[in-house]
Amino acid sequence: MKVSLLKSDFFSALHSLYPQEELQSFFSLLAQHILKMTRLETTLQAEKELTEEAVLKFSKAMDRLEKFEPIQYIIGEAEFFGLLFKVNRHTLIPRPETEALVDWIIQDSSTQHPTPGTLLDIGTGSGCIAISLAHHLTQTRISAIDISSEALEVASENAIRNKVQVDLKRQDVLELTTLPKQFDIIVSNPPYVREQEKAAMQKNVLQHEPDIALFVSDSDPLLFYRKISRLAKTGLNPGGILYFEINEYLSKEMVSLLREEGFKQIEVKQDIFGKDRMIKAFNHA
Ligand SMILES: C[S@@+](CC[C@H](N)C(=O)[O-])C[C@H]1O[C@@H](n2cnc3c(N)ncnc32)[C@H](O)[C@@H]1O
Repeated sequence: MKVSLLKSDFFSALHSLYPQEELQSFFSLLAQHILKMTRLETTLQAEKELTEEAVLKFSKAMDRLEKFEPIQYIIGEAEFFGLLFKVNRHTLIPRPETEALVDWIIQDSSTQHPTPGTLLDIGTGSGCIAISLAHHLTQTRISAIDISSEALEVASENAIRNKVQVDLKRQDVLELTTLPKQFDIIVSNPPYVREQEKAAMQKNVLQHEPDIALFVSDSDPLLFYRKISRLAKTGLNPGGILYFEINEYLSKEMVSLLREEGFKQIEVKQDIFGKDRMIKAFNHA
């Protein structure tokens, strides 16, 4: 089969399911990944004959797109903060909102003297937060935990792929009574989507991303935040900072929670869409 035919088959099979722009981007990613061709090359070399293996791989990818599987799972990687991360169905696909949280920590840390020596990422998933921070905060020793051993395997591969050192450990944060040591920074993007918000979510997220990474009960949506804040009260060094990604609808409740737990200088920050998306708070001695 020639590149030109593969391309026309791809667009005619999927045009009723996705907007044209999104399909263009999917085609480019798959061409890069499977055919090792850039988008421009697929046009300039439209008459090129493809191997049977490449055509088969492309057709399997098309089947998965028909089932609304996220393109990042199909190609097995996602870009985050300028780095490439392996992802699979055990790891949440890193989101742009989370890049803003990483950026906040890097900006803050660059103005701190001395620079933070230790940092813990709770619920690390693919390791995107811990690994991007390790890449930028080279003086900081980074640890990360997650309940999912499958996610931790991916995080470990991602640390190697991105040439950084992160201490990874399987741990259920809800079972912890204390943290193993004291940290200068604790960061977490824990599960925070309420069951009641499911109805408004897209099929590709609901059917393919891990429930354990996303959902909390309607009756206690701040469960993880409360637990982590309590652990952070003793697990943060005096003057240490706690950072969270938060549910956009629960920022007021988050401020109250952190205030009740005794944190100071609480600051909420919006994402690029103007939604309350992250919060930081200081642990004063
Ligand atoms: C919203 S995802 C965040 C993943 C990654 N940090 C990111 O920002 O893309 C939440 C993560 O918390 C982990 N998790 C869920 N329950 C947990 C628990 N009880 N203890 C530790 N980690 C947990 C999930 O496995 C998942 O990787």
